Amino acid sequence: MQLKIVKGTRDFFGEKLLPFQFLEKKMHMLFQKYGFQEIRFPILEYQSLFAKAIGEETDIVGKEMYSFPDSNDDMIVLRPEGTASAVRLSIQNAVLKQNKTFRAYYTGPMFRKERPQKGRYRQFYQIGAEFFGEASPYADVEVISMLINYIEEIGLPDITLEVNSIGCGECRPAYQKKLQAFFTDKQDLLCEDCQRRLTTNPLRLLDCKKESCRALSAEAPKTYENLCQACFEHFDAVQAGLQAQGIQYELKATLVRGLDYYSRTVFEVTSNNLGSQSAVGGGGRFDYLFSVYGEKETPAVGFALGMDRLALLLDSQEGTPIDLFFINDDQLANLQLIKQARNSGFSALSSFEGNSIKSQMRQANKVKARFVIIQGERETQEQTLSIKNMETGEQTQIAVTAFAEWLEQWKQ
Ligand code: HAM
Repeated sequence: MQLKIVKGTRDFFGEKLLPFQFLEKKMHMLFQKYGFQEIRFPILEYQSLFAKAIGEETDIVGKEMYSFPDSNDDMIVLRPEGTASAVRLSIQNAVLKQNKTFRAYYTGPMFRKERPQKGRYRQFYQIGAEFFGEASPYADVEVISMLINYIEEIGLPDITLEVNSIGCGECRPAYQKKLQAFFTDKQDLLCEDCQRRLTTNPLRLLDCKKESCRALSAEAPKTYENLCQACFEHFDAVQAGLQAQGIQYELKATLVRGLDYYSRTVFEVTSNNLGSQSAVGGGGRFDYLFSVYGEKETPAVGFALGMDRLALLLDSQEGTPIDLFFINDDQLANLQLIKQARNSGFSALSSFEGNSIKSQMRQANKVKARFVIIQGERETQEQTLSIKNMETGEQTQIAVTAFAEWLEQWKQ
């Protein structure tokens, strides 16, 4: 039997894993500063959770979900995204009955049966954040600020933020009619999917990736010029908030996002260095999603970032180096020293194979050790340790009894 990995999925180890670990570490540090708490929900959910929320007419629900019946013939899916799950978690655990607002973040694998290519996988990884319970435009600004702050923290250059408003239940029906009227006499120029969308969900036309449809969309009536007074004021305040925070953005009238649950503000961050899969992340407001599940209307706004795409953009050298690598003839003494180092808060490793010093030094280089601590024959006799600073190349010798003091000195 030939061992094969499933198409569109990947294994991660060594260097490939480093940017993911780095991204997660930064996520925890930064998101908690904004008062967000981590949530975890299952990979398996009922299909109806997403079909209702994301919309039957979207690519995700229409053709990309991995679904199968469980033993009761209920349809189960591998989650294609996290927003619907975060809403379900909040409803089922009555989170908003205890507090007026809920700020939550998550990370993990998502699944979409798309055609794999660079930056597009069938199992991919997202970092997401959702903010429930605040209708204010400044909640949108807060969420976008956190997203932009995160991008800065991880050091990504050349990122563009695009924003738009797609209105609400008040103004969108009239806008959809206007769109329909605009596209109806150009129907023959639309792709097959868009000809159907014209009657089922005209807003989706603006999201079509086909060149011919995009050219027409560029001329279509603009979403942000067809907002009701309340949506206009909301979008105005979002933009004023972004400007006040010094966040640069571009208005993009055709930005409607690939999921149907959005209302008012939508946004996307893109990079020019990713080829065709340029969207690094996206999000927006989804004030109607709770009511789709029969709950009281609850304002909500959030985003998700594609970790795989962030990892492609990051220098793969980022990651956590090992603090100390031990080379020791006496393995029992070695275990003792490693334990002492780890107890003092250092990451520490050694090889137990007893290879040559040269080969162990190579290993230390590979794990990017900051210091190599050697106790060979001579050091054992003298009860000393030779310590090499791998950054400067400097070598010092200390008494074994002074090791605790040395650790204290280098503790950060
Ligand atoms: P989304 O735009 O579908 O939004 O996905 C967010 C990001 O996930 C994309 O910008 C992209 O970077 C990444 N992504 C999506 N599909 C793939 C794929 N097949 N391979 C690699 N990366 C991919 C959402 O999922 C919404 N839940 C975001 C949100 C949260 N809206 C409000 N709250």
